[in-house]
Amino acid sequence: MSFTNGLAIVGGLTVVFHLLKLAWKSWCGIREFVLSKFWQVNLRTYGQWAVVTGATSGIGKAYAIELARRGLDVVLVSRSYDKLQMVAKEIEHQYGRRTRTIQVDFMDGHSIYHVIAKGLRGLEIGILVNNVGMTYSEHFAYFLETPDAEQKITQVINCNVLSVPQITRLVLPGMVERGKGLIINVSSLVGKRPQPLLSLYCATKIFVTYFSQCLSAEYKSKGITVQCVAPFMVSTNMTFNMAVNCFVKSASGYAREALNTVGHSIYTSGCLSHAVQDLALTILLPDWLRMSSFFVTKLRNLAKKSIHGRRMYKEKEWFSQKEE
Ligand SMILES: NC(=O)c1ccc[n+]([C@@H]2O[C@H](COP(=O)([O-])OP(=O)(O)OC[C@H]3O[C@@H](n4cnc5c(N)ncnc54)[C@H](OP(=O)(O)O)[C@@H]3O)[C@@H](O)[C@H]2O)c1
Repeated sequence: MSFTNGLAIVGGLTVVFHLLKLAWKSWCGIREFVLSKFWQVNLRTYGQWAVVTGATSGIGKAYAIELARRGLDVVLVSRSYDKLQMVAKEIEHQYGRRTRTIQVDFMDGHSIYHVIAKGLRGLEIGILVNNVGMTYSEHFAYFLETPDAEQKITQVINCNVLSVPQITRLVLPGMVERGKGLIINVSSLVGKRPQPLLSLYCATKIFVTYFSQCLSAEYKSKGITVQCVAPFMVSTNMTFNMAVNCFVKSASGYAREALNTVGHSIYTSGCLSHAVQDLALTILLPDWLRMSSFFVTKLRNLAKKSIHGRRMYKEKEWFSQKEE
């Protein structure tokens, strides 16, 4: 065989390999985001109860309601008593499911977990959604601009990081005993790649991503599914309830689509729109650009302008409400 023939064979095999890879990825994407709508896992088979942290608004509330709609009783864990009662009533009246509420503040650290353990006692928990999370600044900001940094750093780590393995520790033994269970950990798209000006937040989210992936590898042979969900923009209090459009999902739409992906993927953007945005950002905003001082300065200036715009808008709204 001549040298050129050898090169042609290697080239041909490389092309075939990449075409097969592309075909496989496309099939996985179609299965995860399109077929999953018709090919759903029956979530009731995991057990009677679901536990959702941060369940009184945004994505957590949407997960709690969607799980109830799909036939599970729900334990709501959050910090505001009144909001917990409201969501519990909504679930009981609309879907006829049982609820339990546990009021804790995740910022308080390890002292709250005996309260949660007590609240979960005696329940057959099939699903855990580790959703609770917080940011620490209204906008993209330098690390040293973190307000009340000394306290805030601990609070963010307690809420976004500590909560995930601590609640998992409480729930997982029962799941392993029964040989089935589903743990959904809510990370973020910024938990996939480092994002300057969100340094602490994105570092807490990469913890969630890695913890989920390792836990999945450790426990899948024992019948436990661990899924990491990494949303991009969802309209919630955290994102100032921004308008829903083809890029920004509503919390309820997001939770519904994300729950459909269970059983189809252990790491997911949660919906097609966010998966496409993830792909676009990987191509358009490579690491070398995102991590450059030039980009960081530009992003900071843009953030400043958008805060100014938001404040002006809020003031205008306030004055017009007063006039009415
Ligand atoms: N929204 C997005 O675009 C987006 C994108 C990527 C990832 N995420 C992640 O998705 C998760 C949910 O975010 P979200 O946008 O739905 O947030 P959200 O609207 O602010 O809701 C957060 C929920 O957690 C509760 N909570 C917050 N801090 C708490 C604390 N210290 N102790 C107890 N409960 C607490 C809140 O209770 P209250 O009702 O009392 O405030 C609320 O129920 C977070 O992990 C976030 O990092 C969100």
